[in-house]
Amino acid sequence: MRAGVFDSGVGGLTVVKSLIEKKIFKEIIYFGDTARVPYGVKDKNTIIRYSLEAVEFFKNFNIDILIAACNSVSAYAIEEMREVAPFKVVGVIEPGVKALQRKIDDKNAKILILGTKATISSKKYEKLLIKEGFNNLISIAPSLFVPIVEEGIFKGEILEVTMRHYFKNIENPKAVILGCTHFPLIKDEIQKYFKSAALIHSGEAIVEYIKSNYGYDKNFSKTDLKLFASENPENLKRVARLWLKG
Ligand code: DGL
Repeated sequence: MRAGVFDSGVGGLTVVKSLIEKKIFKEIIYFGDTARVPYGVKDKNTIIRYSLEAVEFFKNFNIDILIAACNSVSAYAIEEMREVAPFKVVGVIEPGVKALQRKIDDKNAKILILGTKATISSKKYEKLLIKEGFNNLISIAPSLFVPIVEEGIFKGEILEVTMRHYFKNIENPKAVILGCTHFPLIKDEIQKYFKSAALIHSGEAIVEYIKSNYGYDKNFSKTDLKLFASENPENLKRVARLWLKG
């Protein structure tokens, strides 16, 4: 089984980490559109156009499934990608909602959705959650988290001040959806802030979703990873060495 993983940049490596840990693919081809990151501040049509170009890239590989690790792509471009792709295409939003449902029974529970501006303004998480009966939703776009994580800051004062800035009016959510590829890297700090909240991680959610919806439950001895970037692939490889270790 060979999967493609697509992200706007390096962030989708947090999803790759979960996929590699669970060894459900023999090979992963990763493409990060590092020349045009961030997607999360771009409009819908631009995100769709870039995503369709990524589908063309993946047509060069014999992949079984393409995982759009990027929440902003998942918010806007999955249907359009499916129309032109000769392989399956799956985003991370629906799996995230399913993962939340597995953890939270109470439909009145306060759910905090974190994502980029694009993801939050698409209201995709909200629509799916409302359809499932959840009625106490708060959505915010803590945009500064993305450059902070890219700077390699995963804890400490800068992150704490930034969390206080975004979270100051939010009390005790029952669950927090980490609806952006970068946020799993600061999940320990988010967990310290919202101590009793269940955190929903796109990578873990997609593994469960792929296993149950597509029956990908093989356990390969290891997963080979090939990395491609539209700019500066050396940086992607450097970040992969850092984030995927351990
Ligand atoms: N990969 C993006 C996402 O998950 C975050 C970075 C960006 O804005 O491109 O929405």
